[in-house]
Amino acid sequence: MKQSKSDLSVASLRKELRTKIIGQNVLYYPVTSSTMDVAKQVVKEEAAEGTIVIADHQTAGRGRFGRTWWASSNSSILLSVVLHPRLEELRNLNMAATLAVVQSIEKVTDLKPVIKWPNDVLIEGKKVSGILIESEVHGERVSPTVMGIGLNVNLDPSSNPEIVKTATSLREVLGEEVSRLEVLRALLGSFEELYNALRGGESIAKLWRRQLETLGKQVSVKCGEQVWQGRAESVDDEGNLLLRCTDGRLLTVVAGEVTLQV
Ligand code: BTN
Repeated sequence: MKQSKSDLSVASLRKELRTKIIGQNVLYYPVTSSTMDVAKQVVKEEAAEGTIVIADHQTAGRGRFGRTWWASSNSSILLSVVLHPRLEELRNLNMAATLAVVQSIEKVTDLKPVIKWPNDVLIEGKKVSGILIESEVHGERVSPTVMGIGLNVNLDPSSNPEIVKTATSLREVLGEEVSRLEVLRALLGSFEELYNALRGGESIAKLWRRQLETLGKQVSVKCGEQVWQGRAESVDDEGNLLLRCTDGRLLTVVAGEVTLQV
């Protein structure tokens, strides 16, 4: 498939962006190592909350558990957002991020994505988006946090054998190109609304639970070297998974700790 030119720029994004905090300060790179690295650097320089870093290409994109996050040039949304959450908000950030991804896809297309606990967004059983949250917590104090989102908009998964079986993109499912700019604007708008809800003390767990495809399924959960098997019974208000183990115990698995092997 032919890859189109970049449809992202600071000026194009600013036009019609209706957010008040998220994306008010934009750093755009045609190529960078990882938007996470750039965002962490600007955090050191005291970047304002809501500063976003976007790139058309990453040479060292990373995912959870030290994995690589790969996307061909101009094909995906590669985004990092600087946030200053309190501990309570940090605990719920993965819910806000995954929900924002789902809502943005629903706003721009007629697709119905689902969330795979805790941090993946899937379409037709394949991963279309992943979230990476990097933060440090000292007691109740949370350092400025970088939230990374990779969203495969026009990616052709068959161009990389390592992801061809597990990844998809909006273009692959729809059979036509989708505007990254439109999805990105919708994503920033949805995220701001959800983040504001968290800041106002509202719970978004109910909304999140509705989009979770994992519940009711037999799963195995890997945490370090340990593996638990059981039924994904529910999630609590902080997004932790309640796993009914095969021996009958109910285990609370903290979001972000594990990889789920459905
Ligand atoms: C995962 O599912 O493992 C999380 C993937 C997160 C990828 C995004 S792409 C933008 C940002 N920059 C990175 O290097 N990683 C995140």
